[in-house]
Amino acid sequence: MNKPNDLKLMPTEADAIDTSDSNHFNAVLSARLSRRNMLRGGFATAATAVLGGLGLAGCGGSDDDPVTTVPPGTTTPPASAEKLLAFTAVPKSLADSVLVPAGYTATVLYALGDPLRAGTPAYKNDGTDTDFENRAGDHHDGMEFFALSATGTPSTTASDRGLLAMNHEATTDEKLSSHFLHANGGTTSLPRPAAEVDKEVAVHGISVVEVKKTGTTWASVNDSTFNYRITPLTDVEIGGPARGNSLLFTKHSPNGTRTRGTLNNCGNGRTPWGTYLSGEENWSGYFARSATDDAARGNDKSVTSLRRYGRNQGATSRHGWETGGKDDKYVRWDISKKGASADGTDDYRNEMNGQGYIIEVDAYDKTKLAKKRSALGRFAHESAAFGIATAGQPLAVYMGDDSRNEYIYKFVSAAAWNAADATPADRMAIGDKYLDSGKLYVAKLASDGTGQWIELSMNNPQIAAYAAYKFADLADVVVNARLAADAVGATKMDRPEWCSVNPANGEIYYTLTNNSNRTVNPSSSSQLAPDAANPRAYTDMKGTSAQNGNPNGHIIRFKEGSGAGAATSFTWDVYLFGAESGADATKINLSALTADQDFSSPDGLAFLKSTGICWIQTDDGAYTDVTNCMMLAALPGQVGDGAKTTLTYDKADGSKLAVDTFVGKKASADTLKRFLVGPVGSEITGITETPDGKALFVNIQHPGESTSLANIADPTKYTSQWPSNAGYGPGKRPRSATIVITKNDGGRIGT
Ligand code: FEO
Ligand code: CA
Ligand code: CA
Ligand code: CA
Repeated sequence: MNKPNDLKLMPTEADAIDTSDSNHFNAVLSARLSRRNMLRGGFATAATAVLGGLGLAGCGGSDDDPVTTVPPGTTTPPASAEKLLAFTAVPKSLADSVLVPAGYTATVLYALGDPLRAGTPAYKNDGTDTDFENRAGDHHDGMEFFALSATGTPSTTASDRGLLAMNHEATTDEKLSSHFLHANGGTTSLPRPAAEVDKEVAVHGISVVEVKKTGTTWASVNDSTFNYRITPLTDVEIGGPARGNSLLFTKHSPNGTRTRGTLNNCGNGRTPWGTYLSGEENWSGYFARSATDDAARGNDKSVTSLRRYGRNQGATSRHGWETGGKDDKYVRWDISKKGASADGTDDYRNEMNGQGYIIEVDAYDKTKLAKKRSALGRFAHESAAFGIATAGQPLAVYMGDDSRNEYIYKFVSAAAWNAADATPADRMAIGDKYLDSGKLYVAKLASDGTGQWIELSMNNPQIAAYAAYKFADLADVVVNARLAADAVGATKMDRPEWCSVNPANGEIYYTLTNNSNRTVNPSSSSQLAPDAANPRAYTDMKGTSAQNGNPNGHIIRFKEGSGAGAATSFTWDVYLFGAESGADATKINLSALTADQDFSSPDGLAFLKSTGICWIQTDDGAYTDVTNCMMLAALPGQVGDGAKTTLTYDKADGSKLAVDTFVGKKASADTLKRFLVGPVGSEITGITETPDGKALFVNIQHPGESTSLANIADPTKYTSQWPSNAGYGPGKRPRSATIVITKNDGGRIGT
């Protein structure tokens, strides 16, 4: 999601390649070169794009050259006569519809409010619906497909039936725009009515919904017994070093082993043992803190922690949920110290320490309590991407902290991977084995294209002796991972969003969505000069509005050094720079993006296994005067396939600032192509596929969110009427929804 303090208020990788890998890469490159030659003729004959007027439309031409290739290391061999990225690029668009290439069909599958129980009434979509604990939540985000056999058992190959586990990140802010959950837009003053709060809480969290293909048609199974919800009120367990630590003591869980719910779930992951991982992102903003709480806490070190995680005393909450009433379920949202206890077991002063984790969920089994994996650190989590699992080696999990100037992390398990754990009887127990003990690292990137993973533990003298915050133990380190990363001088990045691992070579890609605080002339501690890994600071005009810093974002990639996932060093370059196609090619459009490829603010990113395609999704506020948010398909090369470049800036004092960076091989028509553009006001986020790669599931988040509250009663003034304008469901109010994309010839997606 956009940052509340950044975009919500507006209408919203080096050169070391080892020998064995070089052979591998040469094979990939030669395959791509031959494909490129074949593709040229196909593009020349592609038909001109025609946009449909409906909310879902195909566009462009088709191409049938019989050339087959797929990156090595992928799990499914290509079907015959398929080549990757053979579709015609979708043009940029401001239409209130989902556009996909000609030859593809996008179908709405599962939208806000859809029932998950047989007895739950159909969604009316007029603001009067209730019982959201038994309905699809709002702001669909990261998701995974968990295949089911015909008899309803977990499968890794079934491609016509499965469960979608899905994040419901947020709900539209009633104070800033129309709040479509409530008949009249909701109460914008405090106190908030309990009924409104209950609804808003219940649309957050995670849902699991069965989806099934009958003939060629996919639909959600609204009465499936597999379906379930996790909301911010569901009891969940704490795992890892923080379990039972006094930092987690609350009135609800005096022994610090549990908390209620999960909050602001954004990116996601999938474990090698078949469970779902969800990243808790902007949870901090949901909590209120009194204006005198620093003194109430005796100005102890909890104040330092709260400030570092965005809750200065006097902070107000995003939705005012703490004002819903005297019931404990409302009171918990006020984290001021109110009780007399020394340990916090009589109030909710520690409640926020229960949020900010990667939470593990067993999508197949609703009877299992979800568990927060504290060993992976507490910050504004996005996705959690596993490195290639190798028997006998530890597992690596890559993660980012999405706030301006925050860090990139990885977790390395203490246990070595045992392939027998891939299909366990008790999946959550395998989670305990690999995710509760290990080492947490943060990334420090050097200007020469190398980098180091720095361990965050009491063994590190910079942490044990940190003056600004006195760490007590490993629990304190993981709960306050940002402070520990500060202590070791990690590299501040341009908002690390999703990460994903290239199955062909194990390299790790991170989207860095944008950073308004990157400037050639820093004038405050929050402003940073461009550096090698975050090298751009420029102005992009959006109409008459200047977007400063790194408004279009970039995608960085890492190649681990010796030790693979357990390595403590890596090399890096920048795979792609987001930019407008017409922008200065020497300072801004460094990846030479054309009109068929240009994008801004990369966010969702996932390599899907069936084809090895890297899918890039945007959550943009800078290029939205020209195009709605989008999704692109990419066939990346590898770290070091481009060149060193120097960017020279003129500083305010008349001197020059020269920044060396490493730019990956420039994009070409065969390696990067726009595949989808979403409806007005939406963010494209969340992507998963069936094992055969023939159904692609994508989430369309918050269409029409910039609709003015004053226009709640007049659908003609909604900025979006999607998906009702695509023929889905009653009412004109826009709804976040999952779509399924299929290819009309039954082929794999992205060919
Ligand atoms: Fe929820 Fe950082 O996007
Ligand atoms: Ca985002
Ligand atoms: Ca995101
Ligand atoms: Ca612009």
